[in-house]
Formats: sequence, C-alpha cells, structure tokens
Amino acid sequence: MSDQDPSVIFTPSGKRGRFARGTRVLDAARALGVDLDSVCGGRGICSKCQVTPAFGDFPKHGVIVREDALSEWNSVEARYDRVRGLAKGRRLGCQALVQGDVVIDVPASSQVHKQVVRKRAEARDITITPATKLYFVEVEQPDMDEPSGDMERLKAALLSQWGLDGLSAGLDILATLQPTLRKGNWQVTVAVHHPTGRIIQLWPGFHDAPLFGLAIDLGSTTIAAHLCDLGSGEVVASAGVMNPQIRLGEDLMSRVSYVMMNEGGEVELTALVRDAMNELVDEIATEAGITPADIVEAVLVANPVMHHLFLGLNPVELGQAPFALATANSLTLPATELGIALHPQAYFYILPCIAGHVGADAAAVALSEAPDKSEDLVLVVDVGTNAEILLGNRERVLACSSPTGPAFEGAQISSGQRAAPGAIEKLRIDPQTKEPRFKVIGSDLWSDEDGFAQSILSSGITGICGSGIIEAVAEMRLAGIVDAGGLIGSAEQVGSARCIQDGRTNAYVIHDGRADGGPLISVTNGDIRAIQLAKAALYAGARLLMDKMEVETVDRVVLAGAFGAHISPLHAMVLGMIPDCPLEKVTSAGNAAGTGARIALLNMGARAEIEAMVRNIEKIETATEARFQEHFVEASNIPHATAPYPLLNAMVTLPRTSFNQAATPGRRRRRR
Ligand code: FES
Repeated sequence: MSDQDPSVIFTPSGKRGRFARGTRVLDAARALGVDLDSVCGGRGICSKCQVTPAFGDFPKHGVIVREDALSEWNSVEARYDRVRGLAKGRRLGCQALVQGDVVIDVPASSQVHKQVVRKRAEARDITITPATKLYFVEVEQPDMDEPSGDMERLKAALLSQWGLDGLSAGLDILATLQPTLRKGNWQVTVAVHHPTGRIIQLWPGFHDAPLFGLAIDLGSTTIAAHLCDLGSGEVVASAGVMNPQIRLGEDLMSRVSYVMMNEGGEVELTALVRDAMNELVDEIATEAGITPADIVEAVLVANPVMHHLFLGLNPVELGQAPFALATANSLTLPATELGIALHPQAYFYILPCIAGHVGADAAAVALSEAPDKSEDLVLVVDVGTNAEILLGNRERVLACSSPTGPAFEGAQISSGQRAAPGAIEKLRIDPQTKEPRFKVIGSDLWSDEDGFAQSILSSGITGICGSGIIEAVAEMRLAGIVDAGGLIGSAEQVGSARCIQDGRTNAYVIHDGRADGGPLISVTNGDIRAIQLAKAALYAGARLLMDKMEVETVDRVVLAGAFGAHISPLHAMVLGMIPDCPLEKVTSAGNAAGTGARIALLNMGARAEIEAMVRNIEKIETATEARFQEHFVEASNIPHATAPYPLLNAMVTLPRTSFNQAATPGRRRRRR
C-alpha cells in the first residue's frame, strides 16, 4: 500500500487504511479488523457482508468521495438484487472493489458481533458470539490420484477457508456426508458447535436458516424458557410450566427429604422435571413455528438441588452440612444424555454453581448484573424461597444464600396467594383514617377509583400476593397499625374498626367480601411474624456480607427475580428487607437469572467469564456463622432494632407507637 492508494474509512468504527485499487471491501475490512460478517466466505451468496458507501465531502475524514469510488454493480449483486432484493444504497462487501477514497458504513445487521441492547441503563449490552455457527465451504472433489476420504477433504476445506482446526463428527454426520456433498455439488454448509469442536449438521449448498437456542431457568416452582435466534439474539418465543416436582415436595428441602425417605426418589424427581422440560420444549417450538429438532443448543441455570435433580444426581448431600455438590463446575453435555429431545446433536451448557447453597441460578444473576465490574459497591438480592445474595465491586465479590422461606411468595400467609388475577398487589393506607386502597392484578384501577368493581368482575378479589403483603405490612407500620416489634394494635389502640381480634392477637381487615360470597382478606399477626422471619433472614444475609466486606453501607441495591421486579423499593426499606440506601439507587433487574442464561447462550465468551468469576467469588455459609443469628434477631424489628436507617427516616416518619400486648408464641420461641 502506498500514499497514492485510496483511503478506505469504515464507520461507525472509524478504522481506516490505504488499499490498492481493486481491493474487495470485505478484504479491506478484514485487514483492518472491521466487524463485517460473512457466512459464504465472500462468494456472493449469503448477503451478510452488506455495506453502505457514502459519497460527497467528508472534511472530518479529510476525503472527498466520488460516485465512482467503488466498482460498478457486478452480475452477482445484480442477481442477488433480482432474487432477494438489496436495500437502496447497499452493496455486497465481497463484490464491490475499491476504486478511490471512500467512506463505508457497516450497518448493525452486517456486524458479526451484533449487540442485543438491554433496556436498563446500568446493564451491559450482550455481544452475540454464539457457540454454534454456520460455515459455507467448497470441498475438493475426490481424485483417483490422491485418494482421501470426503470427511478429510471437508475438514481440510474448513481449515483452509475458515481456519477451523481439530473438528470431529459422529457416525450420523458421516452417514449423511457423501450424499450431502454430491447434492450440493461439493458446496455445503456446516454447523459447528465450537466448545466441543463437533460438526453437528450438514446441508447441501448454502443454508442460512436461523439456528435456535434455548435459555432455561429451572426453578423449584416454575421452569421458564426463552427461545432465541442465535444469529440476531432476538427472543422469538417464551414459555413457562409449573415444576411438577411440587407434588412430591413444596420446597427444596422437602424434595431432598423425599429422596432420603424414598428409595429411588431421585429417579422419580428427575423423570418428572425432564418430562416437564420436554413438554416446555414442544410448547415453545410450536409457538415459534419450528420443531424441537431446530433447537441446536440450550443453556440451563438452576439452584443446586434442582441442578442435581435435573442431572439425575442424588441431592442428599445438599441437605446436610457441609452441603457438598457432586460438581460445582460448568458442564457441557449432549441433550440426548439428559433425555431432552432437541436437535439430535444439541448440547446443554449448565452454568457453574457458586456453592452448596448458591447455585448456577445465582451465577447467572452474577453474569447478568456483573458486580465484579461495578465501580461502586452493589448488593444484588435474588428474592425467592431462598434468597441468593451477592455483594461486591471490581475488587471483591462475596456471595451467600439465606433461607427466607415462601412467605414472600404469598405462601404461609393467611390470605396469601400466588401472583394471579384477583390478588392484591399494591396497597396504601391513609395514616389518618387507617383506610386502605389497593390494586388487584388484572385491573389498572385503584380500589377507590370509579369503575374498579366493574374492572374486576371476572376475577373478584381473592387474596394477597407477595408484593402485596410486603406493601401491606410496610403501610401498616407507616400508619401506626403495627408497631416496630411487629404487633398489630387493637381497634381502640389504633382507632380503627378494621383492627379486629384474632385469637390472642389482632388482625387488620383489608377487604371483607363475605357478603358477596367472597373471602375476608386480612393481615394477621401470624402473617406479620412470617414476613418478619423472611425479611430478617434476607437482611441478616446481606448484613453478614457487609461485615465480611467491612462496610456499614452499600452504594446501590439491585432486586432480582420475578418477585423483585414487583417490590416497591420504599416499602422494602420500611420493612427492613434491605439496608438503608438512597431510593433512586434501588433498582429492579427482573428475571436476572434468566437473563444470565440468555447471555451465556448468545455469547460464548460469557461462559469463560462466569466460570472465572465463580472461582473468585468468596462464598460465605450463613448456617455456620454465629453473627448471622445475631443479625437475624436484630433484623426482626420493623425496620430494625438497632440500625439507624437515616436515609429512610429522612423520607418517612415511622410512628413510635408500641402495643403492649402479650408476645405471640412465635416471638417467644425465636427469642429464647
Ligand atoms: S460474504 Fe457472503 S455475500 Fe458477501
């Protein structure tokens, strides 16, 4: 290249260089390391290399681009335009030749490392580099003088045309190889699973139908999956099913007990979850208009017990100290070995577990929220029946889990229910009148707005879901209906007929639908106690990590999990679920475990990243830490017995009322 050669400037990267006249735009891009896609290797078949040249005066780049800066349309481009259409102004980078100074834009759709832009400001975009990719190759024909096998010549073509070395293929691929090569006139498209180096499918000629992958979040209650186009990163279908293991054990420990009590119980539980997953695969494939055989890979995240049960491993060691996992490492396993009907050569990638109580689901949250890349100290809380908690920044990341129990999901709450139409999900109480107003899932109206009764005709008002009970208890505390110790006042003490006697304690009535055949929906002192236990466990876990980190405050809090998405940050803080923190620094990450699974599906580099991060995370075991119990007891108060919560107190006034009733039996037991 000389000073006389034309300048070629690529946007948006800004990369530039001088190239001899007649250089293909694709070759100039490759020489400069510009991210320009190609599946056909520059043969004018795939159209992945589309670029948009710009003409005119570009003082910023110091060039004037003339209309003849690139060669004229050639017959390949003309044919492509005729058959499939080339957008106005577009050229095929493998056909257009440099003739003069030129500025060339590479549109996002032509970039190899396309990005999936995540909506949240603090979340990183996902760069798409899937583990399974397509390659188009021309294979040498057999020759009497140089005898070699078709597979050997295919591998030689993949090495010389794409630099792919060390590939292997199973018997089923060998069985289709010869007819496929001949049908494609010695041109074939090959799907390669990079982590294993396996050739997983062949097509005659050029094939560019999308490849699909599944990101699966296997929870104790539900199994949720996103079907993704591995090329664009787009989620093409989503589905979820209940985990049928629930009928053999509501929570994880009861499932471990089931295995302990019943010989072969683990086999039964494994069969149940795999059957449900196969149903889910069928459902999601039908929704997307494809077949399960079109799904070439899957990524799975799960808590340790579900992880073991899905793999067919006995989980009993996870039910007792020291909570040893059969393996903590990530796994890449054929789907056939796991009994899941996808593409016959599909692989599952299963994220590593952090510890015996902190599973691959928490690793996925870490991948999604990246505390290890955070400048400020971030507390990430994935709220479920077990809360997984991460605390960290660039320097150090700690993790633990805390047994919150099912109260946050509306279970063990007298009027509690799962989040479904009819459930109260938001609630406010007037501090003067002590009257509640609420919103019910399925209606956009508050209960005191016109048309509310009409809007809930089909569901009625049936109970309170997890976010509703959190708001209810926090609002009761703000309105002086419940005191810091968690006792509900009587009608006289509170000055409201909504406080009714309930055995030896009181309850607060939110809605009485009995006259219309509906339920009486109230918050009892037992409900408050259940929420206190759950939130104290959550806070104590977070506080324990703060002790280990030797900090008194955190810079921000991320609430993860489907449930976390619905928690009001203010109410979570009034309750004392999370440490004091500026409200605007408390954000929701939605289903971060599912997002982490999707990242690991779409970005192969993310797999190495999470494996390294998990090795470096410091694991803290709450069950054996004496300080955890102390923190737990102090955190039972609402919001807390000793932590001052200055930021919260600057926002709200917490009444100092104390209802001197006899402590509930639950309270005496816990304090003893
Ligand atoms: S690289 Fe495939 S059409 Fe240009």
